[in-house]
Amino acid sequence: MESLSIGVLASGRGSNFQSIIDAIDSGYLRAKIVLLITDNPNAYAIERARKHGIETLILIPKLSASRNDYYKKISHELKVREVGLVVLAGFMRVVGKPLVDAFRFRIMNIHPALLPSFPGFHGQGQAVDYGVKISGCTVHFVDEGIDTGPIIIQAAVPAFFEDTEDALSERILTLEHRIFPEAIRLFAENRLEVVGRKVKIHNHNPDNSSLVSPQISG
Ligand code: GRF
Repeated sequence: MESLSIGVLASGRGSNFQSIIDAIDSGYLRAKIVLLITDNPNAYAIERARKHGIETLILIPKLSASRNDYYKKISHELKVREVGLVVLAGFMRVVGKPLVDAFRFRIMNIHPALLPSFPGFHGQGQAVDYGVKISGCTVHFVDEGIDTGPIIIQAAVPAFFEDTEDALSERILTLEHRIFPEAIRLFAENRLEVVGRKVKIHNHNPDNSSLVSPQISG
């Protein structure tokens, strides 16, 4: 069986991108990353791709005639490389319709909050300001909205009164690095089915899952 070809879109440091690279290298995930696309020429993700011999394209949005053109270009680059799954690993833009249409339910995003709470930017800061006691992260398929697509996996962490955005972000990030490769693996194993706005995970044994319940202490 052919292994899954992944295209990654990232704008920044790329720690989630790295967690996927590591999951492949360790044999946890049977897939290959065939392309990194970034909108930011200074993204540290570029360095990570270079170290691992992953082709990189720097596509600057303002060099495209329109937002639609930008996403048409991205979708073209992914299609010519026969990408089966597009992974948004800290891609700091709302994906345009041409890309969503071309890869419907084949684009995954990681969001640092328990959706549908706190979508958009600074999910962790929003959670801190709101005073929630539990937060976490969500891997979901991408649709036209902002962090609104069908949810694949979530994991939870405690949030504390003293938390700053940075402190909570760090706690959440550890789990991001766990559940993103897990969700991609479920996709690679063909075990995800979108039913309406829900995602059914086939042959799912919750006892073996890294769906994490919060360790409430302190
Ligand atoms: C992560 O917190 C992710 O949840 C959000 O953007 C951040 C990207 O971090 N979408 P990194 O670039 O993967 O380190």
